[in-house]
Amino acid sequence: MSSNLQVSSHPLVKHKLTRLRDIATDHRNFRELARELALLLCYEATLDLALAPSAVQTPMGEAAGWEAREVIGVVPILRAGLGLVDGIQELLPNVQVWHIGLYRDEATLRPVEYYNRLPGEPTVQLCLVLDPMLATGGSAIATVGILKRWGAKRIKFVGILAAPEGVEALHAAHPDVDIHVGELDERLNDIGFIVPGLGDAGDRMFGT
Ligand code: PRP
Repeated sequence: MSSNLQVSSHPLVKHKLTRLRDIATDHRNFRELARELALLLCYEATLDLALAPSAVQTPMGEAAGWEAREVIGVVPILRAGLGLVDGIQELLPNVQVWHIGLYRDEATLRPVEYYNRLPGEPTVQLCLVLDPMLATGGSAIATVGILKRWGAKRIKFVGILAAPEGVEALHAAHPDVDIHVGELDERLNDIGFIVPGLGDAGDRMFGT
């Protein structure tokens, strides 16, 4: 498996992901767990964030300190990526959120773009592409392509579950993109769903 894949080993990710997969988990709990997992995975995906020295005045004097230097944008892939935005905004309240609308054509499994309001020039230095599921990888590959054409230089993918096929495809198309996921599952089935997976993330998140 590609070296830019980071599968979380955090016990809380494992615990919450198990609850998320459970067929008995209802929509409300599914959304809550997805929010919490996004926060934990965002923590891991930002471990190499660039810092600049920044001294601060404490009540006792001056302390050396740091401030995050990179302007961060999160790019949720509609619809299911929306369920990861809240958790990330808790950790990074000032992030820019740029939505990309894609759906998978059910017959071809190819992504079809339907929403993109990115401005003319890039406004961020680090993009976190959010989608709970990396299945064939088509949606992530298309989104990273859109961001690169926009001018984004540093891009990471943050998701909950990946199939080996999706990781390989994303890595082959964009080897510079780090992939952060909660778990690497066994395989894709013949209709492009991750097995054992968690079902259809968008449907479970939005009750459809
Ligand atoms: C699902 C999922 C990902 C995509 C992953 O979305 O949420 O966006 O498929 O598949 P891929 O890696 O093979 O591209 P879907 O097209 O069902 O849209 P939705 O989120 O609106 O339900």
